[in-house]
Amino acid sequence: MNLTESQCLYWESLVIPFRTGETIAAALCRSGVASLGNTVGGLQGRFFCGIGTCQACLVSVNGASPVEACLTPASAGMRLSPVFSDESRCQGAGQ
Ligand code: FES
Repeated sequence: MNLTESQCLYWESLVIPFRTGETIAAALCRSGVASLGNTVGGLQGRFFCGIGTCQACLVSVNGASPVEACLTPASAGMRLSPVFSDESRCQGAGQ
């Protein structure tokens, strides 16, 4: 596979190559990203069902509302991040 800059997205500071037609989850898995940080309910984000049911793979795309990584096609230049940062989770812990 010939990867060019136009076939990459970003998981935090990592550059993640992808193939045309791949989902975000497939691209991240192939690059060795298994943990998706904190997600809804304070659970560890990860890939589980692969069909959009469990919501364990939610990620933020370009700082917007969460999407299911297992259903969302990868697109060049996407900037992906966990739904909740460690910092935001800590802010809610004492309330
Ligand atoms: S892995 Fe279950 S919704 Fe994506």
